[in-house]
Amino acid sequence: MLFEHLTLDGRAVRYAASGDEQAPQTLVLIHGFPLGVRMWEPQLAGLGRLLGASRWRLLAPSLPGYDGSDSVAQPSMDDYAKHVLAFLDRQGISTAVVAGLSMGGYVAFALLRQAAQRVAGLVLADTRSGVDGEQARAGRHRMIEMVTAGGARAAADDLIPKLVGPTTMSTRPDVIAAVRQMIEAQPPPTIVDSTRAMLARDDAGPLLPSLRVPALVLVGEEDILTPPEESERISAALPGAALVRVPCAGHMSNMENPEAFNDALRGFLERVSR
Ligand code: MLT
Repeated sequence: MLFEHLTLDGRAVRYAASGDEQAPQTLVLIHGFPLGVRMWEPQLAGLGRLLGASRWRLLAPSLPGYDGSDSVAQPSMDDYAKHVLAFLDRQGISTAVVAGLSMGGYVAFALLRQAAQRVAGLVLADTRSGVDGEQARAGRHRMIEMVTAGGARAAADDLIPKLVGPTTMSTRPDVIAAVRQMIEAQPPPTIVDSTRAMLARDDAGPLLPSLRVPALVLVGEEDILTPPEESERISAALPGAALVRVPCAGHMSNMENPEAFNDALRGFLERVSR
């Protein structure tokens, strides 16, 4: 994947893009934890082709600290959302369809709180609207200890069995290797920063019924981290949202079954097309 870069307030930001710079519509893809933008390769390549380069520009900015982008001190979900908004400003984009997977969904919620008028459509994949329960909070503190002691590799060892579903686990060693590579490429302090930001995130439950934006909710049928019931709850609370279950996929539904994921996303984008 070819990275492009720009600077925001003196900070280097790396990002990936596809489609013409002049395309009238933008899809911004916000990555999950702790993966970086390479996770969106099947969308940047495959979906970009399906949509037509002259109609849609796909942009995937790395969150601070990821993929060689500069970090910010003690980022919150709000800071991540501000980063995405500043990135869009820098690209001269006033409104975009915003898609986030898992932590990317938490960032999308924060972005909606800050600037709902800039969101032309919302795609939430394998995410949850509520905050962490006691067990999840304990898991986050364990993750911080693990990464502090064992680096990104420890995060990969712990997360991979939960990130991909049993179908991928038994049939797609290429996807597993790619996920490992993406995680191991991220700096341990960035993984710790994101973990703390997720621990402190706000409950998006109360936000959902107030949203007036076309929305698509996607979830891997085999997702154990944010199981389909979470997505059912989100789509029930979000006025007019469509729910699509991605077969043969776990939490990384966009990488595990890109054909089904891209198909659903393309249908949605065509519906919200101007
Ligand atoms: C992600 O994929 O971004 C994470 O599973 C989010 C989380 O840990 O809550």
